[in-house]
Amino acid sequence: MIVHFIGAGPGAPDLITLRGRDLIAASPVCLYAGSLVPQALLAHCPPGARIVNTAPLSLDEIMAEIAVAQAAGQDVARLHSGDLSVWSAMGEQLRRLRAMGIAYDVTPGVPSFAAAAAALGAELTLPGVAQSVILTRTSGRATAMPEGETLAAFAATGATLAIHLSVHLLDQVIAELTPHYGADCPVAVVWRASWPDQRVVKATLETLDQAIGAEMERTALILVGRAIGAEEFEESRLYAGDYDRRYRPVGTDPRFPDAATTDGE
Ligand SMILES: C[S@@+](CC[C@H](N)C(=O)[O-])C[C@H]1O[C@@H](n2cnc3c(N)ncnc32)[C@H](O)[C@@H]1O
Repeated sequence: MIVHFIGAGPGAPDLITLRGRDLIAASPVCLYAGSLVPQALLAHCPPGARIVNTAPLSLDEIMAEIAVAQAAGQDVARLHSGDLSVWSAMGEQLRRLRAMGIAYDVTPGVPSFAAAAAALGAELTLPGVAQSVILTRTSGRATAMPEGETLAAFAATGATLAIHLSVHLLDQVIAELTPHYGADCPVAVVWRASWPDQRVVKATLETLDQAIGAEMERTALILVGRAIGAEEFEESRLYAGDYDRRYRPVGTDPRFPDAATTDGE
């Protein structure tokens, strides 16, 4: 028996990996975080599967479900939205499973920041503009930010910020970021990226409040930085004709590199 943790992706049901889909289909038990995991993914469960929405359950109750599956020798597909490496509450479940001696594996998913960037048609790292993306959030009712992890500290780097779980604090976010990025810095808010009711607002830190208008629901990502919508940036050296890179030395035919693979640099 094993528990498969599966990143369910940002919302569109076809934005799950093939591996994730196949593991759902092979698991007689499916536990899914109902608030953001699309119901359509449950269609991959095998006939007769036990399907449980864990949104209203406590951690103890979730682990009890897994213990029942273990007793029956049934594999479990455990679905969380986006990718599991950020804000999934997977860490505490894995710790409990280790203590219980239950095997698990983890299948990554498309994170919401990637879906939001795709909705914008934006690369978040542009040469000479930004070469880092910081995935962060503001303090919430349940989770305080560790000391030092402030928006101001991150903003001081000038990196592109992908701010999660914070759209309800937009005024505060704008106020903290404006001194660092400038009032004319591009910002975008993407609600429910990849869902049918996806909404995108692009503005500057100064005009965002007005551009948004009526309050929207909370599943949204705030992307801030000079890379958002920038047209003034250098071309990547990677594809420059005179760039002598390991797998395409200048003077060789790039269609027939010596090595079978490249690592992108
Ligand atoms: C509990 S976190 C889950 C993050 C998820 N594990 C991921 O990989 O993106 C929920 C927050 O992620 C962001 N989020 C999740 N899905 C989203 C989507 N489809 N569009 C925009 N933001 C999304 C929002 O900021 C939301 O408040």
